[in-house]
Amino acid sequence: MQRLTNANRLNMPKLGLGTWPMLGEDCTKAVMQALELGYRHIDTAAAYDNEEAVGAALTATSVPREEIHVTTKVWWDQLEPQKLHASFERSLKALSSDYVDLFLIHWPTKDWDLPRTIKALVALKESGKAKAIGVANFPLPLLREVVEGLGAPLAALQVEFHVLLGQAKLLDYCLAHDIALTAYSPLARNKVSEVPELIAIADKHGMLPTQVALAWLLDQQGVAAVPKAAGRTNQLSNLNALNIRLDDEDRAKIAALPKDQRLVNPAFAPNWSDGE
Ligand SMILES: NC(=O)c1ccc[n+]([C@@H]2O[C@H](COP(=O)([O-])OP(=O)(O)OC[C@H]3O[C@@H](n4cnc5c(N)ncnc54)[C@H](OP(=O)(O)O)[C@@H]3O)[C@@H](O)[C@H]2O)c1
Repeated sequence: MQRLTNANRLNMPKLGLGTWPMLGEDCTKAVMQALELGYRHIDTAAAYDNEEAVGAALTATSVPREEIHVTTKVWWDQLEPQKLHASFERSLKALSSDYVDLFLIHWPTKDWDLPRTIKALVALKESGKAKAIGVANFPLPLLREVVEGLGAPLAALQVEFHVLLGQAKLLDYCLAHDIALTAYSPLARNKVSEVPELIAIADKHGMLPTQVALAWLLDQQGVAAVPKAAGRTNQLSNLNALNIRLDDEDRAKIAALPKDQRLVNPAFAPNWSDGE
């Protein structure tokens, strides 16, 4: 599978399986099935309450652990250095692993000592237990502060990104700084299936609108995507999007879609328009 690699020790397949909001046995089954189909990148988080279920799949599968990229995340109320380390250790235990491939700060918070938190994050990378580190849901000024102000060797940024939500500025920044951009909610939670322009492109090529939406992301340099799909059919269909090439006419139609449809915007979210 196509991978994203960078100087900050990232080695991540471009397509991964999102695991939120799957829980327990359902989650274990979905992850095992995805691994059987050829997925080698699993996205979880302490806050999803499913790391143990993911860990059970990692233990039960015949796919060697070192062939699977696992991302997990620390929640925003655990960013004080000791809490961050404790959360990381709990994640390792739940995942039945002695390392994770990528460890992310899930959301920024306003109430923190940013340099101390980032130092604690970097220490995990230096220990080798987190092969790579990164952040999620950071707006551009904060990302810039962490990368340029604090010199943190971030390997990846995870943000909401799909055909209905543009991330041009963040993507430009990531490309310039050798940081991978992972698109979460890449199917806009299946809203893409109702967009007439995507349906038309899909019909033209004999594919699905969801595949068009994923192909548009995966075709872009430095971009990975983690669609969540519980069942085999959707998992396989999403995986096959890796082999789809859109043409210039398709890309122009997608470029013309509204790019301001943000779906994930909890009360604790940062000010997204910072740096616009
Ligand atoms: N860092 C963050 O703050 C953050 C925030 C949100 C999400 N995430 C991560 O990103 C992952 C994906 O995001 P998401 O779950 O919000 O949204 P998403 O992947 O855009 O959409 C998931 C929805 O689309 C459906 N679906 C998947 N493949 C399909 C297909 N081929 N055809 C039709 N429907 C399909 C799924 O249903 P079925 O399961 O029934 O297939 C599910 O209802 C999450 O699981 C999580 O790992 C991270």
